[in-house]
Amino acid sequence: MACRRLPIPWIPLVAALLMAACDRQPLTPTASGSATPVAFAEPPVLANKWAAAHVVEVDLAAAPAKLALLPGKPADVLAYNGGHPGPTLDVAEGDHVVVHFTNRLGEPTNVHWHGMHVPADQDGGPMDLVAPGASRDYAFDVPAGGAGTFWYHPHPHGATASQVGRGLFGAIRVRAAADPVPAAFQDTLLVLSDNRFRADGTIAPETHMDKMMGREGDVVFVNGQLNPTLAVHAGEGRRLRIVNASAARTHRLSLPGYELVQIGTDGGLFERPIARDELVLAPAERAEVLVRATGQPGSAATLVSTPDRRGMTVGAQGMPATLLTLAIGAEPSQEPPPFPSTLRPVRPLSAEKATTHTITFTEDHLTLDFRLDGRKFDPARPDIRAKLGATEVWKLVNQGDMDHPFHLHGFPFQVLDRNGVPEPFRTWKDTVNVPKDQAVRFVVRYDDYPGPRVYHCHVLEHEDQGMMGLLQIE
Ligand code: C2O
Ligand code: CU
Ligand code: CU
Repeated sequence: MACRRLPIPWIPLVAALLMAACDRQPLTPTASGSATPVAFAEPPVLANKWAAAHVVEVDLAAAPAKLALLPGKPADVLAYNGGHPGPTLDVAEGDHVVVHFTNRLGEPTNVHWHGMHVPADQDGGPMDLVAPGASRDYAFDVPAGGAGTFWYHPHPHGATASQVGRGLFGAIRVRAAADPVPAAFQDTLLVLSDNRFRADGTIAPETHMDKMMGREGDVVFVNGQLNPTLAVHAGEGRRLRIVNASAARTHRLSLPGYELVQIGTDGGLFERPIARDELVLAPAERAEVLVRATGQPGSAATLVSTPDRRGMTVGAQGMPATLLTLAIGAEPSQEPPPFPSTLRPVRPLSAEKATTHTITFTEDHLTLDFRLDGRKFDPARPDIRAKLGATEVWKLVNQGDMDHPFHLHGFPFQVLDRNGVPEPFRTWKDTVNVPKDQAVRFVVRYDDYPGPRVYHCHVLEHEDQGMMGLLQIE
């Protein structure tokens, strides 16, 4: 019995029985019994070809590849530099970054640097494609204070879900010039993705249901691995940088028996740490979390992802998945590193004199009609015009039938309130979930880089079907 391959929709009772039968142990989708443990590994870092300091120059290519996403079952996928996920772009505040990109796909693509504050013509938005066989350079400077965890993915309108779903995504780590997080917490990257497969290991095609609700695969990967084992010694500290690169899945993460201390989100660190029982990451959101291996020497713990209904009353709801096993070494515990008490100041954006744009999400999901303000995306039609340097408030109102995670390109924002409840802390975000029947307000300043920017729902299927608008900054 393959415990992670439940049919959708499913009956809760059957699922509960199956879960009990599986004893909540994760299985590889191919195995009928115990899964072979696989040692946790991060994607490789993109090799920097530039010798001098403060310049990062890398080669990146998108190409068809044959990879066994499921162990032992090679299949046709798309990959950045042959990897799943693609290699990590590892840079620091103040770096000048040059990416020599080549499109070896048989279709147009591009690279969007999700969450990065880059010039409009380097942003890799849907108006700016790279033809099959063509190359281009992306170049940008990483601003001071721009440290955080980001990611890159293609953005061709109408084909984003299909290209990301076939394997094109990778992480970006931006290190701070002066990092307040003790180095005793070792930096550890977790890129979360999911997919659905046929029995032969090939990626299953998108269904009508996927187009409605967004594709949630039943196989969940961490760095392209199935429940890898992260070996730590007793008392060891880790700084987890978690990227939700899933097309539609919202992860509710927990590490039962352990303290999870969140230190940051999309655009880097909070002002001070926040203890969490559960960490919720909508599609495209990121988090930085400190954990300490405080369990008994020789014991194991599991990082669990509980599925989220995303505001829907029926339909896609998978099983809790074990993302990763933390295996604590047998040697006696060393003193765990103390959690930091403060992190960094986050400059507040004042919403006082700001004008407000209201963005209304509507949908008829039966006819696959997803709109913002009653309109579908048109690359030739600016929906909002704003002045360079302006500070504005956006009010996101979800009148649809499910949650929609909203993302704005180019300019990080600060959430003011969710359904009228003031945000309890200040932080930089670029993606925020807008729950069904709720409203979220944020404040943003367009501090530089004029030009066109898109904003959209980050359920990739909704974005592809037009739930996207154009902000023109002049
Ligand atoms: Cu992560 Cu417009 O994208
Ligand atoms: Cu983006
Ligand atoms: Cu949506």
